[in-house]
Amino acid sequence: MCGIFAYLNYNVARERRYIMEVLFNGLRRLEYRGYDSSGIAIDNDLSFAAGEEERPYDSALPLVFRQEGKIESLVRSVYSEVDAVGLDLEKSFMVHAGIAHTRWATHGVPSPRNSHPQSSGSWDEFLVVHNGIITNYEVLKETLIRHGFTFESDTDTEVIPKLAKFVFDQARGGDQAVTFSQVVIEVIRQLEGAYALIFKSSHYPNELIACRRGSTLILGVKGLTDEKNYAASFGDVKTLTADGQPKELFFSSDLCAIVEHTKNYLAIEDNEVVHLKDGSVSVLKFDYSKEKPASVQRALSVLEMEVEQIKKGNYDHFMQKEIHEQPHSLTTTMRGRLRDKSVVLGGLKDHLKTIRHSRRIIFVGCGTSYNAALAARPFLEELSGIPVTMELASDLLDRKGPIYREDTAVFVSQSGETADTLLALEYALSNGALCVGITNTVGSTLARKTHCGVHINAGCEIGVASTKAYTSQIVVITIMALAIGADSISTQSRRESIINSLSDLPDKVREVLRLDNEMKDLAESLMQMQSLLIFGRGYNYATALEGALKVKEVALTHSEGMLAGEMKHGPLALVDETLPIIVIATRDACFSQQQSVIQQLHARKGRLIVMCSSGDAASVCSGGSCRLIEVPLVADCLQPVINIIPLQLLAYHLTVLRGYDVDQPRNLAKSVTTQ
Ligand code: F6R
Repeated sequence: MCGIFAYLNYNVARERRYIMEVLFNGLRRLEYRGYDSSGIAIDNDLSFAAGEEERPYDSALPLVFRQEGKIESLVRSVYSEVDAVGLDLEKSFMVHAGIAHTRWATHGVPSPRNSHPQSSGSWDEFLVVHNGIITNYEVLKETLIRHGFTFESDTDTEVIPKLAKFVFDQARGGDQAVTFSQVVIEVIRQLEGAYALIFKSSHYPNELIACRRGSTLILGVKGLTDEKNYAASFGDVKTLTADGQPKELFFSSDLCAIVEHTKNYLAIEDNEVVHLKDGSVSVLKFDYSKEKPASVQRALSVLEMEVEQIKKGNYDHFMQKEIHEQPHSLTTTMRGRLRDKSVVLGGLKDHLKTIRHSRRIIFVGCGTSYNAALAARPFLEELSGIPVTMELASDLLDRKGPIYREDTAVFVSQSGETADTLLALEYALSNGALCVGITNTVGSTLARKTHCGVHINAGCEIGVASTKAYTSQIVVITIMALAIGADSISTQSRRESIINSLSDLPDKVREVLRLDNEMKDLAESLMQMQSLLIFGRGYNYATALEGALKVKEVALTHSEGMLAGEMKHGPLALVDETLPIIVIATRDACFSQQQSVIQQLHARKGRLIVMCSSGDAASVCSGGSCRLIEVPLVADCLQPVINIIPLQLLAYHLTVLRGYDVDQPRNLAKSVTTQ
C-alpha cells in the first residue's frame, strides 16, 4: 500500500535541490499507492552539522522531513524548513544517498510521527522506509523496550531501525567491525511478515541497502557506458565505477517511478539484500537456515515502458487519460496474440493441455479484477465446456473453499500484489492446483509465483480506480478462452468471428468514447442523487457491478450493481420516481428479458436510463420515458468492454462535478498489500 523510493548518485555532482526533486518526483509517481503522509531523509553535510557537539559518531547526521497529507504538502514543508534554517540548496554532492516514502496508514493515524522514514532514535543513526506489515512487531518492541529503547510512533516499522541500532551497538560493544549488510541481515532474520525495506545509516554514509519479502522492489541503474551489454551481463559486471561516467541508482516500489530515469532495472526477489556501496551493486541471498548469505548474480532487464505512460499529457486526471487511452491499451494487449484464425499466448502454451483436462476453472480476484473475470466467464465456459466458478479472494480464504489438484485456478490482479489474491494463490498452490496469473505488472509477486500466465500489457495504470486494466483483463481472458477452446472443431466459426471482432474492438472503443460529452451531461443531471442502481445480466452483469464500483469509489456516491434477474426478488421495492436506475440492454441472448425488466420499471414509474445498442432506441424505450445511452454493437462476449466505458466516463464526470479527488479517492490505495 505504501510506496518507497531511494536515489543514490555516485561519482557525479548533484545539487541538493536536484536530489530532493528526484525524491519528490519518485514519491509523486508512487503517490497512488498511498497518500495520507510522506517523508524523506537526505544527507546533511559536515559544515551544516558542525555546531552539533554531542554527535555520537563522526558522521554527518541526516536531515529527516515527515509530513501528514499529500506529497505536495511535504514538498512545501521541506522547502519552508530549508529556507528557515538557511540550508544551501546549491550545495553539490559527488555521492549522496536519499530515501523517501509515501504512506497508506495501517498502524497508527496519519501524522508526522507515524510517517516514514522511521528512526532508530534521537540521532537518526538508522533510518528505514517500509512497505508491508511486520506481524511480530509487538514482540520485537517489547524486547527492545527491555533493552532501553523508547518508541515514538504507533507503527510496526519503528522496530526495524531500532533493531538495526541494537544489532550495530552489540557488535561495536563486542569491538567487532560490522558491515551494513551484516546489520541488515541480522535485522531481517528477526522479522516476520511482508516487507520491502530501504535502510540508510549515518554509520555507513553513501551506502543504501534494500531488501524484500513479499512486497515488490525494483532497482534502477542509470549511466552505464554500454547500457545494452551491461543489461545483458549484470551478473558479471559488478562495479559501476571504472569509467568515471555518471552513475545513478534508484530503488522503487514499482517501475513507474524509475522509467523517467532509466530503462535498466532489476526486480529484486524475496530474501535478496541489495547493497549499494562505492558505486557497486552487490546482491546477497539470505537464507534462514544458513549463517552466511550467498552472493548471487542477477541480470538487469530492460524496461518496455515509455515515459509518456506516467504523465497526464493533455488530460486533467490520470483516470480520464486512462479511460481515453483504451483504444491504445487494448491494441497493445492484443499485439502479437491474434492470428488469422487462431490466437497465441506464449505464457500458456505449455499448459493448455493440463487446463483442458481440468475438472474446474476457478477465477480468483478482488474488486475490478474479479469483475473482469466475471465478465469473461460465460465465454470461457462456452468454449472450454469446463465449469468455471468465481471466488472473491478474501471469501475463498475465509471459507477455505475446496480446491483440488485437478483444478486450474486463475488469479487476476492488475498490480499482482494484492494481499488477498496472493494469499489465495498460496492456498491454491498448497492444494496442488495449476495456478495461472493474469496481471499488468511484470515482475510482480503474482507473475513470479504462478505456474504460468499472461501479462495484460495495458501500460502503467496510475489512477486508483482501475479502468483500462479492466478492459484489457476481459480481452486477455477472452483470448485465453479462445486458446483453450482451440482444439474443438464445433466452435471454430464462433472462434473465428470473435477473433475478427477483437481486431475491430479498438475502433469500436474509439466510437463509444465519443459519448464523453453526453456522459458529462448525464452526470450533471445526476449531481444531486443519493444513490444509483445499475441492472445487468448475462455478459453484462459484471458491467453493472463494475459501473457501480466506479461510481462508489470515485464519486463517493452509493451505487449498486444488480443482476436484473433478481430485480423482482427484492430490489423492485426501491423503485420510485426519484431513484435513478441504469438498465443495460444491449443486444445479446438476454435482450428480451431486459426489455421486460424495462417494462416492469416503467410500470412503477422508475427514473430510467437505458444503455442500448445503436439504433435500438425504439425497441427499448416504448411504454415510458427514459434517457438513452446508445453504444456500438460488438460480439456479445466483447460487449462488456464497450458498455463499461460510458459508466467509467459517468463516474469520472460525477467526481469532477462534485469536486472530489478523481485519482486518489478518499481512504483508498491502488495496491492493497494488506489483508
Ligand atoms: C477498483 C479497484 C480495486 C482493485 C482491487 C484489486 O477500481 O481498482 O477494486 O481492482 O483492489 O486490485 P488488483 O487488480 O491490483 O489485484
